[in-house]
Amino acid sequence: MRNPSSRAAHSDKKHHDSLYPFRKILVVICTLSVLAYALYYKSTPSNLNTNASDMSEAAYVPEAKAPLVVEKTEIPTFEDNEVLIKNEAIPLQPIDAKQARIGFIPLKYPAVLGSGVAGTVVGSKNPNFSKGDRVLSNTPTYGTGDNKYGAFQKYTVGTDLTLRLPDGVTFEKAASLAVNVPVAYSSLFVGLDLPKTAPSGSAPVLIWGGSTSVGGYAIQLAIKAGYTVVTTASVHNHAYVKSLGAQNIYTYDQAKEIASHGPFAGILDNAGTGASHTAIWRVLQELQGKKDVEDTILSLLPSMAPIEGWPASLVIKFFSYNFSEEPAKEEKQYFWAPGGYYSKIVAEGIVETPVEIRSGGLQEVEKAVEDLFHGTRKWLVVDHWTFLLPISFFLFTLPLFWSGLAYFANPPASASAAVTE
Ligand SMILES: NC(=O)c1ccc[n+]([C@@H]2O[C@H](COP(=O)([O-])OP(=O)(O)OC[C@H]3O[C@@H](n4cnc5c(N)ncnc54)[C@H](OP(=O)(O)O)[C@@H]3O)[C@@H](O)[C@H]2O)c1
Repeated sequence: MRNPSSRAAHSDKKHHDSLYPFRKILVVICTLSVLAYALYYKSTPSNLNTNASDMSEAAYVPEAKAPLVVEKTEIPTFEDNEVLIKNEAIPLQPIDAKQARIGFIPLKYPAVLGSGVAGTVVGSKNPNFSKGDRVLSNTPTYGTGDNKYGAFQKYTVGTDLTLRLPDGVTFEKAASLAVNVPVAYSSLFVGLDLPKTAPSGSAPVLIWGGSTSVGGYAIQLAIKAGYTVVTTASVHNHAYVKSLGAQNIYTYDQAKEIASHGPFAGILDNAGTGASHTAIWRVLQELQGKKDVEDTILSLLPSMAPIEGWPASLVIKFFSYNFSEEPAKEEKQYFWAPGGYYSKIVAEGIVETPVEIRSGGLQEVEKAVEDLFHGTRKWLVVDHWTFLLPISFFLFTLPLFWSGLAYFANPPASASAAVTE
C-alpha cells in the first residue's frame, strides 16, 4: 500500500503530466509569436511595397482649407539618398497653420502638411544613415508638394537634410530644432551674408523679436560666431533672451536706444509684420547718416503693407531658404553633413526655444493647427502610440514564454519517456 504523501505526489505528478501537452502548445505558440513579431519588425522598414497589413497613417487636408482628417495610408517609398523615418515628435510651425487654414501655397489635395520631424530611421538609401538611427529631418514638403515629405503622418521620407541625434537629445527637443535652426542659420549667414566668424571689431547684429523661435536660435548662433547681439522682445521675455546670451535688450518702441548701438552688421526681423517693419523703420531713421543700411535687413515674412516714409529704394529682403537649391550645395554640406556645423551645435547643447508639448499623436494635429492659427505660440505633437505596440507585446509574451520554457526544460518523467519512445 502506498503512503498518503507518495499518493499525493503521484496525483500531483499525474496532474502535471496532464497539463504537459498544453504547456508544450503554449511554448510553441509563444515561440511562433516572437518569431512572427521579429519577422514583422524586420520586414516593416524594408518591405515598402505596402500591403493591407503594412500601412501608415496620416493627418491630411482633404481639400484646400478643410479640417484635417486622420486615415490609414500607404507607407511612402523613398529614393536614393533618402531615408524613411518613423516619426516620434512633430513640430507645428506657423506656416503649417497658415497653409491649413488659408492655403496660400498651391498644393495638390489631399495634402500632408508639415516640414519637420524627429524619429527613428526604419529604412535607408543614404549611406550616412542606418536603420535604428535617431534623427531629425527638415523636409521639402512645401517646395515639392510631395506628400511623402509631409510631417503629419506616421512615416515620413527625409532627404539629406537629415541629422543623426546625439544620445540624450530627446525627440521633443529635436523636433523643436528641426526647422527653425536651419532657418536661423541661413538667415544670418546666407541671407544677410554675415561672415561665419565675426571679423574683429565687427558691428553688432540686431535680432528683432529675439523671443520668437527663430529669433532665439539666431541669438545663440550669432553669439557663437562672435557677434554682439542687440535684440527686442516684450519685457516678460527679457530674462529669457538674456539667458540665451543677448547683451543689449530693448522693447520694440525703444528706437533711439537701439540705434545707439548701430550701425549694424545685419538686422534680422523674426516677426515680419507691418508692426515690426514700422518699428525697424524708426530705428533706421535714427541711424540716418551713420551708414547706408542697404542689404542689411532681412525679414522672415515679406513686407505686405506700405510703411509711411519708407523709401522705395530701400528693400527689405524676404528670405526663405531650404538648402535644396543648386547654388546651396556648399552651404548644405557645411551645415548638414555628419560632423558638420549642425551636428556640432546640437552636440554642444544649443538651447531649444520654448514649445508646448501635446500628446495624442495625429489625432491631436487638427486641434493644434486650429490653436496655432488663432494664437502665437508653436506646438509639438508627440506620437506615443508608435512604441506602445512592441513594449506591450513583449511585456505579455515573454513571461509566458519563459515559464513555459522552464517547464519544457524540466519535464515530468512520463513526458521524457514519451519523447524518447
Ligand atoms: N521665411 C521662413 O523661412 C520662415 C521660417 C520660420 C518662421 N517664419 C515666420 O516667422 C514668424 C515667426 O515664427 P516663429 O515660429 O519664430 O514664431 P513664434 O515663436 O511663435 O513667435 C511668437 C513671438 O513673436 C513675438 N512678437 C510679437 N509681435 C512682435 C513684433 N511686433 N516684433 C517682434 N516680435 C514680435 C512675441 O514675443 P514677445 O512676447 O516677446 O513680444 C511672441 O512670443 C512667423 O510669422 C513665421 O511664419 C518664416
